[in-house]
Amino acid sequence: MVQIDIFDTTLRDGEQSAGINLNTSEKIEIARQLERLGATIIEAGFPAASPGDFDAVKRIGNTVKNSIVTGLARSVKGDIDRTWEALKGAEQPHIHIFLATSPIHMEHKLMKTPDQVVDIAVESVRYAKKFFPLVQWSAEDASRSDPEFLAHIIRKVIEAGATTINLPDTVGYATPHEYGTMFKYISENVAGIEKVKLSAHCHNDLGMATANTLAAIENGATQIEGTINGIGERAGNVALEEVAVALHIRKQVYGIETGINLKEIKRTSQLVSQLTGSIIQPNKAVVGKNAFAHESGIHQDGMLKNPLTYEIITPELIGDAKTELVLGKHSGRHAFKDRAIKMGFDLDEEKLNRAFIEFKKLADSKKEIVEDDLFVLLTDQQINE
Ligand code: KIV
Ligand code: ZN
Repeated sequence: MVQIDIFDTTLRDGEQSAGINLNTSEKIEIARQLERLGATIIEAGFPAASPGDFDAVKRIGNTVKNSIVTGLARSVKGDIDRTWEALKGAEQPHIHIFLATSPIHMEHKLMKTPDQVVDIAVESVRYAKKFFPLVQWSAEDASRSDPEFLAHIIRKVIEAGATTINLPDTVGYATPHEYGTMFKYISENVAGIEKVKLSAHCHNDLGMATANTLAAIENGATQIEGTINGIGERAGNVALEEVAVALHIRKQVYGIETGINLKEIKRTSQLVSQLTGSIIQPNKAVVGKNAFAHESGIHQDGMLKNPLTYEIITPELIGDAKTELVLGKHSGRHAFKDRAIKMGFDLDEEKLNRAFIEFKKLADSKKEIVEDDLFVLLTDQQINE
């Protein structure tokens, strides 16, 4: 089984979501939980961005021991100095430097030629290497960069001392095939790439972040980056819990271990949602409220006969409570009877049928049937001789 690193950026890219602003103690609480979850690396913030971010990165660096703590820096000495100031007390100081490599970013944002971009990247990595044993270099907008130029700049930053190369799909534009092909190309065309970590970082603008991350793994990625609940810029980053569970469930296909303690997923997801105020959509894969709720009669009947019919993941796997068979207008008699028995009612078939008819009428007029509704309905039949 091959082990890959999980780089969690909930506190940096995740916090870059519109409307999210965590204070230092909230960030520390999340970082501690990410450590329990088993993240290899926690990106705690962007120390040069604000005094608050600096403080949070420093305190997390001094607190967290079982995960590597990193901070983001632009390719400028001031940012690198500030990141070192924040992380020099950390167990394994790690820095994450980025610079854009796509034609549109180089020309219109950086206003630099490709050669100038190579020089800046090399200089920043060399400078960071004076302080940090672990230097991650990210080619921002890698998926829209020229592959030959990408390979060239990667060779140069590896020579300068980079220990991880990250290839972000910054704007969530790549398809799984394109993203995988980029990883394959870099793996095959950069000598010495196997000596460094090769990282995937996917955004979800077109809803392809999980598929893209898996495509990167299939093509040589040894580290994946993402956030809890998929929070992040615009449509967010890849949801780490989705990738971790997919790799676990499809171990036969991928042969990958993540080191993630799956039982901590639900708790981590809830904590991040609570502290960021970012609500999880009910049908969100793995951690949504409805992820394990079955409503239709056919599905409920199958589940009661054998849960494997409709459940590929159990809620227990991610530390959640048991599967819910939600009673609604699509539910069948089998699930209804099962619930009645679980609630302690022992009705004969005739009463049960009458109760079921009443239940269907009620279900047509109400969005959700709660336990109290059932109680009233079943009690009516029990006392009506
Ligand atoms: O999406 C991106 O390109 C980033 C970089 C800073 C790595 O978040
Ligand atoms: Zn990003």
